[in-house]
Amino acid sequence: MAHLAVDVTGLTHHYNTTSTQPILKDLSLTLDKGQTLALIGASGSGKSTLLNIIGGLEPVQQGSVSVFSKPLQSADDAALTQLRRNTIGIVYQSFNLIPTLSVTDNIKLPMALDGVARDEQRTRIEQLLEKIGLDHRSNAFPDALSGGEQQRVAIARAVVHRPALLLADEPTGNLDATTGQQVMHLLQDLVAEHNTTLLMVTHSSTVAGYADRVLTMSDGTLKEHSEHASSANTW
Ligand SMILES: Nc1ncnc2c1ncn2[C@@H]1O[C@H](COP(=O)(O)OP(=O)(O)OP(=O)(O)O)[C@@H](O)[C@H]1O
Ligand SMILES: [Mg+2]
Repeated sequence: MAHLAVDVTGLTHHYNTTSTQPILKDLSLTLDKGQTLALIGASGSGKSTLLNIIGGLEPVQQGSVSVFSKPLQSADDAALTQLRRNTIGIVYQSFNLIPTLSVTDNIKLPMALDGVARDEQRTRIEQLLEKIGLDHRSNAFPDALSGGEQQRVAIARAVVHRPALLLADEPTGNLDATTGQQVMHLLQDLVAEHNTTLLMVTHSSTVAGYADRVLTMSDGTLKEHSEHASSANTW
């Protein structure tokens, strides 16, 4: 369906371990273009697993997953790589910044892979560094940055190629309330600017409060959640 950014139907997922219980059980989810969805749920419930499958990082074992009408279960590695380069941005739970690259070069990488012209690369990096308040740290390496600074660089890197779908795994995890709020405002601005579809995992009810919809992962499936507060922490 053309208005859907994400369409998951009957998704079941096992990891290759001794446990016979699937992590995801016949899970279905649709996400409209431009929508912001927060995913909450207990640690180990499968939130990152779902995000990784939608991001093409983990294979679809059973069921179907489409991103902007492209079915991932029938896509080969080259098609999945292409989709990640052009269409998807991922903020990883543990940042995954490249330690041997400076802040500028970390942010530049997705644009280089996506074939953005050099002048345009420079302009976007300058604008993003200013937005995340790190213009003075552009030449620093990740291990010289605080956790919050690394998180902001990870967000800049995930949005710099203007992905239509942004997947953010705990974008404010490990941040204090003030920094967390700054990061959320940054994400909101970026999403509004390009009508990006945002799927974020969070333990925070404050972060969930920014979303159009909140779903809870429980027993391998998703439940619509009307009150934000009950199963999440404040930060
Ligand atoms: N690569 C893997 N191989 C085997 N088991 C895995 C793998 N990744 C995750 N798991 C298991 O799958 C379950 C779901 O993990 P997942 O990372 O999706 O949870 P989560 O909801 O993101 O948790 P958290 O809130 O702690 O980040 C856990 O029991 C985890 O141990
Ligand atoms: Mg996780």
